[in-house]
Amino acid sequence: AITPILLCGGSGTRLWPLSRRSYPKQFSALMGEESLFQASVRRVWGKEFARPVVVTGAEFRFIVTQQMAEVGADPAAVILEPSARNTGPAVLAAVMQVAQNDPEAIVLIAPSDHVVRDVQAFHAALTVAVGAAAEGRIVTFGITPDRAETGYGYLEVEGGVEAGVAAPLRRFVEKPDRARAEAMLAEGRFLWNAGIFMARADVLLAAFERHAPGLVGPVRAALEGAQPDLGFLRLAAEPWGEAEEISIDYAVMERAERLSVVPFDGGWSDLGGWETVWREMGPDGQGVAASGAVHAIDCRDTLLRSEAEGQVLIGLGLERMIAVAMPDAVLVAPMDRAQDLRLAVAALKASG
Ligand code: GDD
Ligand code: MG
Repeated sequence: AITPILLCGGSGTRLWPLSRRSYPKQFSALMGEESLFQASVRRVWGKEFARPVVVTGAEFRFIVTQQMAEVGADPAAVILEPSARNTGPAVLAAVMQVAQNDPEAIVLIAPSDHVVRDVQAFHAALTVAVGAAAEGRIVTFGITPDRAETGYGYLEVEGGVEAGVAAPLRRFVEKPDRARAEAMLAEGRFLWNAGIFMARADVLLAAFERHAPGLVGPVRAALEGAQPDLGFLRLAAEPWGEAEEISIDYAVMERAERLSVVPFDGGWSDLGGWETVWREMGPDGQGVAASGAVHAIDCRDTLLRSEAEGQVLIGLGLERMIAVAMPDAVLVAPMDRAQDLRLAVAALKASG
């Protein structure tokens, strides 16, 4: 069975004001009834999977258990981080925990901020990946790119890729600048990294030991000193605070050998910012995507959302705009500035 490791400790600031520090985007119903986290749980729940290990911030522990119970899923463990240190330490802690019981377990590192429209295609890709992972490869999942996105990792394949085959990777490039992203898109041999990884636990551990040795000591100490707490595993704060804040992509994937990629075209989308959400909501003929008590009059290519009960939002004559109203906060911005929200939210935090 595949052991899923679900990551859901990110803060999702580019989806402010829907995504908040206390209630980040992966726990919100961005699309449809269930949250992105719940959809992620259901994608890795079933007879091919062992119960998942969830890694999250200590402050989200009850959201996690409640949302899992709502979809009828039960975690093997919920590992709580005293502070967010990005995905490198989070993955390492979970992999160490899994390896204690079964070093050769095949783990699936799964983020919880994506939509996957074709779950069957996702499972088919996992089946292909298991073969390669069992042989000691670290398997990535490659999406055919359609723009020079700078917020993703890029995978360079050696030859071509074929559906249903795990191909060897030549290079992993995390978050290139615009010029490099454009060059890679034009080059044609690159795929986007879906942010999902599969490998044997011992293989991943060895990769961390080799490429990110500085993480190993603090994370091991945090796990050894962990306090079981109401069914949660709370990592020891002191050693955890010494682990470098770094993503698994920079810490391990850019440097690792024996990487493979399985192409995956199952309607994958990273809901990283409002523009992607707008696209995924299925805009109408004028390009308007609306949700809640909103009215769009003479608007084009615009996203209107009202999450505040009893509050009406009217868009009049808007073009390429985003308007999101929450009970206590409202965002109005041009679509093309959506990526800058991270800065705006940082400024807000700094000003208290
Ligand atoms: N537990 C925990 N702790 N989870 C975290 C933390 C943390 O400190 N930081 C982030 N996460 C979770 C997020 O909630 C998300 O589900 C997942 O880990 C990925 O983190 P992101 O911060 O969203 O990564 P990214 O989108 O910038 O980049 C990754 O995903 C891209 C595709 O969406 C990389 O793997 C890229 O290469 C990839 O293209
Ligand atoms: Mg992301």
